Amino acid sequence: MPELALVEERPGLGGLSGRDLLRIDDLTADELLALLDLADRLKALQHERIPHPMLTGRSLAMVFEKPSTRTRVSFEVGMAQLGGHAVHLANAESQLGRGEPIADTGAVLSRYVDAIMIRTHAHERVEELAQAASVPVVNGLTDDHHPCQALADLMVLRERLGELEGRRLAWVGDGRSNVCHSLLTAAAMVGMEVVVAAPPGYEPDADVVAAAAGHVDVVAGPAAAVAGADAVVTDTWTSMGQEDERDRRLRDLAAYQVNAALLEGAASSHVVLHCLPAHCGQEITEDVLWGPSSAAWDEAENRLHAQKALLAMIVE
Ligand code: CP
Ligand code: NVA
Repeated sequence: MPELALVEERPGLGGLSGRDLLRIDDLTADELLALLDLADRLKALQHERIPHPMLTGRSLAMVFEKPSTRTRVSFEVGMAQLGGHAVHLANAESQLGRGEPIADTGAVLSRYVDAIMIRTHAHERVEELAQAASVPVVNGLTDDHHPCQALADLMVLRERLGELEGRRLAWVGDGRSNVCHSLLTAAAMVGMEVVVAAPPGYEPDADVVAAAAGHVDVVAGPAAAVAGADAVVTDTWTSMGQEDERDRRLRDLAAYQVNAALLEGAASSHVVLHCLPAHCGQEITEDVLWGPSSAAWDEAENRLHAQKALLAMIVE
């Protein structure tokens, strides 16, 4: 019974027990691939409705200081499918919203739960929480990073493309997006060639590009980035917290839309990713998002399976 073996193997699975995931490169490439292998197994079990209670009696606190649909539902349902339980803490409904320090919150939550997931603004706030918490902390999105999205993105790319080493991934649009930072790091870790097309001022963080040295090129034009690409990826032009900059961003990024004309230059079997929520008519067109090359819906589903694998590996 493979599902029973999984449950028995869990303690110490992959050597990740007790670890945080604040950035995707908190994992080594081997750990990342092992996690994706487990996510594939968990997806198959879930599709067969075979129980896999790897976290019986464990709890996850989910702290949200920004809105969410996918992250909230996939973590909460994922914990239930693993036999555990999730607690949702919205900023406005908790003492965090009244100014209780994040470190105090981390220390207290650690007395109740076995892991903490947080979505917030400044990345430093997640680091402060992780410092104070005695249980693993997972970054559910900050202004700079979205590692859980990168897990699901690589999972769907493996499903669609097979071996990823040497494949070409084109990012088109806001290169400073949290999703871009995590995905370009993850793609470089598994040996993909990444090309980013972003207008001046929207290039990815120089430290992120440097850390992925040799795997990432930043170019000015979307057509050059997409030429021959196996995967084409974009994200919203106005991320959460950037609403005041919306008009300027829409103007600056107008030439960076992922549409059918742009995709004519991609590899014939290319796949299009979008983390969602999408803004059709802005960063992507509706025909592409809902078209045959779009893997956005599988990508969203894979948040569930990839995060279950992560939780199964890090929770003690
Ligand atoms: N992709 C993603 O993180 O979606 P939510 O904002 O709905 O969680
Ligand atoms: N870059 C987007 C991702 C949403 C999942 C944002 O931060 O709003």
